[in-house]
Amino acid sequence: MTTLSIPTTTLADGSPFPLIGIGTAGLRGVEGAEAITAALRSGYRLVDTAAQYGNEAAVGAALRASGVDAEQVLVTTKIAGGDQGREAAREGYLGSLRRLGLERAALVLIHWPNPSRGLALETWRTLIDLKEEGRALHIGVSNFRPEQLQELIDATGVVPEVNQIQLSPALQRPEAVAFHREHGIVTEAWGPIGSRDGLGEQFALRRVAHKHGVSTAQVSLRWAVDQDIVVIPKSADPQRQIDNATLDQVVLDDADRELLASLDLGEDAAWDAREHEEW
Ligand SMILES: NC(=O)c1ccc[n+]([C@@H]2O[C@H](COP(=O)([O-])OP(=O)(O)OC[C@H]3O[C@@H](n4cnc5c(N)ncnc54)[C@H](OP(=O)(O)O)[C@@H]3O)[C@@H](O)[C@H]2O)c1
Repeated sequence: MTTLSIPTTTLADGSPFPLIGIGTAGLRGVEGAEAITAALRSGYRLVDTAAQYGNEAAVGAALRASGVDAEQVLVTTKIAGGDQGREAAREGYLGSLRRLGLERAALVLIHWPNPSRGLALETWRTLIDLKEEGRALHIGVSNFRPEQLQELIDATGVVPEVNQIQLSPALQRPEAVAFHREHGIVTEAWGPIGSRDGLGEQFALRRVAHKHGVSTAQVSLRWAVDQDIVVIPKSADPQRQIDNATLDQVVLDDADRELLASLDLGEDAAWDAREHEEW
């Protein structure tokens, strides 16, 4: 059944973690479940969902329909903004597990820091408990800036294993990536194809893609994977799902990397988690 061979990186505790997973935002209901099932049957073993996406039940249905051993699939979910807080985060997470039909998630993240609520630290303490209790294998955050990560680390001494951030050749985030490396945090890229930023239309990217006879999406994904950054491209299309996880023939050289470096719109173009909140 498995055709894809997906490379892995390593979490801080030495656990292997796929460098390419399937994003699922917008994949809902029966059609969404079918698309996720197709990804699993092709060989994807990392699935990114969130309470906020309203599709955890579809992810659970896909896991069961795929015929893949559930133990082999790493499911990530996220604590929604409205579920932040010491008890609320636990209840929110248990609701996610119920909808997924799982006893534990491989990775649970705080979806956004939402500083106006001031509950990120309490939420982090709950994730630490959930990991200690064995209810979550790994814990991390999403959309946290370096100083927001530092606050969690200073208060608890526990470093998030993953930070999932908006990242693509259009938003290269070098300071964030360097901070993560320094602290042993795996960087995971959302929006890695950069559709929101019109990345696929950029001449420099099209030129690199044309040179290698591959899609612009494949170049963007390879550029991230080459830096040991996990990517979670979303596609509802089974063939594009396979293309997005077939990057072996995309071998970028220095000239390619120089062209891709010119695409960075800068940190200011990324959604700023000091102001942008999602509840
Ligand atoms: N933590 C957060 O705050 C956060 C925020 C946003 C997203 N995410 C996660 O990250 C995942 C990915 O981000 P995203 O969905 O925003 O953006 P993305 O994966 O960069 O782009 C998805 C878009 O690209 C298209 N696409 C996929 N593969 C393609 C290919 N090979 N060629 C051409 N077009 C292609 C998809 O259309 P088709 O489906 O038609 O192929 C879809 O419109 C999400 O699904 C979600 O799991 C997390």
